[in-house]
Amino acid sequence: MKKILSGIQPSGILTLGNYLGALKNWVEIQNDYECTYFVADLHSITVTQDPKTLHENIKKVIMQYIACGIDPEKNTIFIQSHVHEHAELGWILNNSAYMGELQRMTQFKDKTAKQENDSVKVGLFDYPVLMAADILLYDPDYVPVGEDQRQHLEITRTLGRRFNSTYGEIFKIPDAYISKSGARIMSLQDPSKKMSKSDANPNGFISLLDSKDEIIKKFKRAVTDSENVVKYTENQPGIKNLIDIYACVTDKKIEQIEAEFEGAGYGTFKTAVGEAVADRLEQIQKKYNELNKPENEEFIQSIYTKGAEKAGKYAKPKLEQVYTALGFVL
Ligand code: TRP
Repeated sequence: MKKILSGIQPSGILTLGNYLGALKNWVEIQNDYECTYFVADLHSITVTQDPKTLHENIKKVIMQYIACGIDPEKNTIFIQSHVHEHAELGWILNNSAYMGELQRMTQFKDKTAKQENDSVKVGLFDYPVLMAADILLYDPDYVPVGEDQRQHLEITRTLGRRFNSTYGEIFKIPDAYISKSGARIMSLQDPSKKMSKSDANPNGFISLLDSKDEIIKKFKRAVTDSENVVKYTENQPGIKNLIDIYACVTDKKIEQIEAEFEGAGYGTFKTAVGEAVADRLEQIQKKYNELNKPENEEFIQSIYTKGAEKAGKYAKPKLEQVYTALGFVL
């Protein structure tokens, strides 16, 4: 079976964007690939996190993975920092990466645009190298990543090739996994930005754990335009995003949706989208609330412990192979 690997940062409760853009698809492919999904805790501290909140969020991401339908029997689920080899390989790859290429990463440039150099963290700068280590450590065939992470996957491929050409064929060079059904969900407040769990404005995103009332309220407040026609066009990015969301949660076609809301106002459409999303999330929340009970804590713990053991079985010899190639004494 071909191998897939991906991770999500525990920088908050997962959003509808994480679900429709990633998790929903991960569930659909779990019988066709050998999949590994981790919680990228090491990556999350590139932005200062409140330790108590981070601690909870890490466990919550594990529970949200499972609540969304990722079967822990079929997939390997673990916490990044539990497998020390990630950080270790990250250090090694720092010696393959160049300052210039990291400085050119669009995400780094965007995130630091308004900061003085003196307050930009080295971790943020180095983030793509750790991500390359996460990936190269496991020789996956494919990495499902969103548009915003494409460049990081590209640098992963570059670093893998560069290492291989100096030290021998050690790493498999992975491809991006292009999902058939995934969608890029944008902020409800600014449809030019990706929906993000770290958005300062909670109206911009739907959290997987929002109540039905909150969900409907947020959709009612979604930024649209004054065209007042439900049409899928680049000129109406807000409405286009809502159509994408509605299409994803109802499995309806775009044309079908345009026809369904022909002549209807935005109010009606927004409420319909809110209802459909709330219905979909209700099932996830039910499962999540069950998993979140104290009596299930051990079960959750056993999943990420077993996951780290399994991941470590691949990562440890891989890192040893790297150390040997470098000339280190094992
Ligand atoms: N950088 C990714 C994000 O923010 C998370 C991530 C970390 C990741 N390591 C990874 C994704 C390895 C895929 C593979 O979305």
